[in-house]
Amino acid sequence: MGNEYKYKFANVILAAGAGTRMRSNLPKVMHCLAGQPMVCHVIDAVKPLKPEKTVVVIAPSMDSVREAAKHVAPDCQFAIQSEQKGTGDAVRAALDTMKGYNGIVLVLYGDTPMIRTETLYSLLSQHAEKQATISLLGMRPNPPTGYGRLVMKEEPLVERIVECKDASAAEKLIPWVWAGVMAFDAAFLRQALAELAPSKATGEYYLTSLIEMATARKLKTVMMEVSVEEAMGINDRAQLAEAERCMQSRLRAKAMKEGATLIDPETVYLSSDTVLGKDIVIHPHVVFGKGVSVADNVEIRSFSHIEGAKIMSHAVIGPFARLRPGSVIGKRAHVGNFVELKKTTLGEDAKVNHLSYVGDTQVGQGANIGAGTITCNYDGANKYDTVIGDGAFIGSNSSLVAPVTIGAGAIVGAGSVITEDVGADELAVARAPQVNKAGTAKNIRKRQKKA
Ligand code: UD1
Ligand code: MG
Repeated sequence: MGNEYKYKFANVILAAGAGTRMRSNLPKVMHCLAGQPMVCHVIDAVKPLKPEKTVVVIAPSMDSVREAAKHVAPDCQFAIQSEQKGTGDAVRAALDTMKGYNGIVLVLYGDTPMIRTETLYSLLSQHAEKQATISLLGMRPNPPTGYGRLVMKEEPLVERIVECKDASAAEKLIPWVWAGVMAFDAAFLRQALAELAPSKATGEYYLTSLIEMATARKLKTVMMEVSVEEAMGINDRAQLAEAERCMQSRLRAKAMKEGATLIDPETVYLSSDTVLGKDIVIHPHVVFGKGVSVADNVEIRSFSHIEGAKIMSHAVIGPFARLRPGSVIGKRAHVGNFVELKKTTLGEDAKVNHLSYVGDTQVGQGANIGAGTITCNYDGANKYDTVIGDGAFIGSNSSLVAPVTIGAGAIVGAGSVITEDVGADELAVARAPQVNKAGTAKNIRKRQKKA
């Protein structure tokens, strides 16, 4: 594929549907795959082909879709479909944004998020080569239930699409279905939408009715096959889970191709924005939330949960580590088991190896945070910062009550509750002094026997 599609086209993405089958208060296209709303995956797939414009069709109350789309495509436009009267009506709502436009209009559905740039590129190229009026993606899911069936006398020429709801028993047996992606010549699209009549069966205006309108005008509709994994439409939660499975295997394959070792790939969950370097080893059962980047030669051990974190080279994370947003792990630093970090920077070679919570904290280079250290960063109303200097040593089971600063090279005795700053190279011990009483244990046991 070249860097850029050589023909010009405008892109319309339909996202206004209520998504009733999801049974959700969230617009359907806002449901996420690999941590990113479906509609953003669709926009991302088209972006490298540099459409002349991208128009997302939304319902009046869909501010969340607007925000999500703007996040990935700041220059996209929006068209409002005031009532959800069907996919043909939705495309009609976008026409106002392309008055006088005479190129190709690529229509995509916001609930078809697995679609790949390469496939869209091929469809657009084929559209030009075959001089089609409409080009569409077809697939053969098993079973084809729910999808519009492609009526073809001579493959790959499509005469009409019959919606599943309207299909006869014989038509329901057709294995070919429409996969939710269509390219149109703009002039035809405009004309046909002006004449589009609602379905007799459902009263909806179907975009798919445009195929028979083209056939009646002796204009050509050409189908190109796509895999079901790539073009499945997501209408309910079971399909969402199936798409997530496919998306995860795609992301895992990419991570491995780029040089990460996934010991048991099926158990590693990635986000669409996870950035992994080379020679990273990821042990089984690791979850990456949004916003994680991992540099080369990092090892991430089992059962770690990581989000919003930047991990520098040669660091070792886990097993059982939790890195929350704002964690920055320095080169060669270690975060061990049952350690939670939040908004915390660990300096190079620093270690927090066991059973700790460290939040809103700067940890200096080579500092060692003992087992069970807790930064007490919250007083029930406000959060406060902790600073731990280079080379400091925090003894086990210490509480650092923020705001507090531990100087470089300082030592905090085990079991301390530190409420005052500790200067560089000072020793701080803040716990009740120990009392040993000779023979007292024996006396206690005698008393216990008598009772
Ligand atoms: C649709 C197709 C079907 C195809 C399938 C592929 C139609 C009539 N049917 O069925 O042939 O096989 O997709 O996945 O096109 N939308 C609006 N406004 C509306 C209605 C829908 O914007 O008034 C949007 C939805 O948000 C969604 C997309 O259009 O992103 C498709 O709508 P959906 O209801 O999912 O159609 P399907 O029943 O899946
Ligand atoms: Mg659908």
